[in-house]
This record gives sequence, structure tokens and C-alpha cells, in this order.
Amino acid sequence: MAMKRIAVIEGDDAAPEAMRPVLELLHNLNLPLTFEYPIVGQPAIDTVGSPFPDAARDMIDAADATFFGSTSGPSGASLMYLRWGKQTYANIRPCRYFQGIASPLANPVGIDFVIVRENLEDLYVAVEGDLAELAFLDRPGRTTRKPLRELGQGRYAIKAITREGTERIVRFAFELAKKRAKQNKVTCVTKYNMLRESDGYFLEVAREVAEANPEIEFDSFIVDDFACRLIREPQRFDVVVMPNLYGDLLSDAAGGLLGSLGLAASGCYGDDYAYFEPAHGTAPDIAGQNIINPTATLLTASMMLEYIGFDEQAKRLESAIEQIYADGKVLTPDQGGDATTPAMVQAIAAAM
Ligand code: IPM
Ligand code: MG
Repeated sequence: MAMKRIAVIEGDDAAPEAMRPVLELLHNLNLPLTFEYPIVGQPAIDTVGSPFPDAARDMIDAADATFFGSTSGPSGASLMYLRWGKQTYANIRPCRYFQGIASPLANPVGIDFVIVRENLEDLYVAVEGDLAELAFLDRPGRTTRKPLRELGQGRYAIKAITREGTERIVRFAFELAKKRAKQNKVTCVTKYNMLRESDGYFLEVAREVAEANPEIEFDSFIVDDFACRLIREPQRFDVVVMPNLYGDLLSDAAGGLLGSLGLAASGCYGDDYAYFEPAHGTAPDIAGQNIINPTATLLTASMMLEYIGFDEQAKRLESAIEQIYADGKVLTPDQGGDATTPAMVQAIAAAM
């Protein structure tokens, strides 16, 4: 197989403590993989005066995928590029329980669903401003029944839901459902009862895509109802597709449902690029202690291996993670163990 190039951004605070041992594990698989390290964030500001220099962008472009540790602060510019620059419109966040995970639920067995979050639109178009700018819009709100200019001083944010953006994310969800063994179901989550135009459109387009895919079951929930069901009956979900902001909120909730965000993997896919980043933050409170749970980073690495064509190694890595949880002997403190991050990764590497 041809050599694959991975651009690596190790991230901030405790994130590199998870990334480094995982990179070592990947390296030791002896695959045709090269790792390149674009300089971004504070080090890039210090050396070339920009948080996201052209050289970093070129390295990301030349790579087959980017492996991204969680960032905070000045590394944000690279995240913007990886999403909007590379048009990675599908954020995939799997939530799967396996034996040995310290879950807060009484019965987590059988949880296995994937959140498919639209990654570029909705409130994330980030068009915000002063309400006064919209005074010319001489139309009353459906609820307030007053023209905007009578609302008084304040700010606004635009929620944009497009046909193209919705069609491609819902299609992505259906294709994923076809590949999964489980229930072959797609669930759409919106607030269409209140946001009739924007979320109503998302649901309408989702229904059209569903009609074109009759072999997959389709259902729809209002987001508040879904939040409740997510806790009460998570086992009934398979692939769940939703606009950007709900996906952001509910994927953290899904991580907490399993046990912690330390278990939550994430990949962002476009038509010709993808980047992989654990869903958790940079955990500044435990930085420097080498106890950050590497599971999210490992599961994320497994998604990346699959994307670049190393399916077999991706599966072996996942099975090894499962085995280490089932054994319960080498886990980080958040999972009730006393292992360090590198020790847990080494145990998983040995189990592969
Ligand atoms: C995520 C994060 C980001 C988001 C932040 C860092 C902008 O919370 O990837 O879920 O809101 O998308
Ligand atoms: Mg988030």
C-alpha cells in the first residue's frame, strides 16, 4: 500500500500526554505511515507571528488526514481551517459501551449508537451582531409579534440550515446506517415544533432522503424529548443525525452517559478530507500528571486507521481496548484504576 501521510497537532494542556503514547503505538504498528508536525498556536506565534502559518496549512493539505489533540486558545485557527477550510461537514461521534467501563447508568449494556452532527452550518455560521443592524427587517417574530426594532437593545445570531448542507449530512447518516450491523435505523433530532423554518426544513429534507432509502428505518424526535430518551433508553438508538449545535451538546451528554468524555472519539469527514480529534477538551486541571484517559484518543486513532485504509489494524486496536477494560487491571484513575496514561496505552499495545 502507498505511504499515507498524517499531519499531527498534539494539542494543548493535557492533550499531548494522551497523544504521544498513542502516536508511539501507531508508529510501532509498522504501517506505511508518516507523521508530520505542523507548527500552530502559541509556538507558531512565537516563531513566525501567526497562529496558523501557511506552512502548517500546506502540511495539512498534503496529508491524507489530520490527527488533532484537543486544543485551547490560539490553536483555534487550525480547527477553523480543518472544518470550514477542508469542508469536513460530518462530525461522527460513536457512543458504544463495552464491559468494564465505569458508567453512571444502572444498565449501560447494549449502548451502541453514533451521533452524526452537521459540522459547518446552523448557529456555527457565526453571523452575529447588534439587533439594531436588523431594524430594517420590518417583520414581527412569530411569538413576540413585534418588529425587531421594538425589542430594544441586544444582539442576534443567525441559524442557517441549507438544502445542500442538510442533504449531504443526512445521506452520510443513511450510508453509515447501512454499514452498521445493529438496527439499521436513522433518527433525526430537531426542534421543528418551535423553529418551523430552520429545523422544520432540516426535518423536511431528512424525510426526503429517508424516502430514497426505504430499506433503512427512519424516525424523528424533538430534541428535548430525545435528551430524555438518551438517558432513559439509549439502547434503542443506532444512527442519530442532527444540526450542529444540538450535536455539540448531545455528544458531550453521550460521553457522560458512557462514563466520561475521556471515552468519546470523534472524526470529522468531508468528501475528500477528514480529521480526527477526541471529543474531550484539554483537561487543564490534570495537565502534567500523565493520568489523562487515553481511550478517546485511541478510539479516535482507530477511526483514522479505518479511514486511511487500515481496517484490520483499526479493529485490532478496538478489540485490544475492549480487552483491557474487560480485564480491568490497567485503567486510569477516572475509570477506577491507578495506571498512568502511558501504562494504559502500553497494555493496549501489548494486547494487540
Ligand atoms: C467540539 C467543541 C468545539 C465545538 C469547540 C471547541 C468550538 O466543543 O468539537 O465539540 O463547539 O464544535
Ligand atoms: Mg463540543
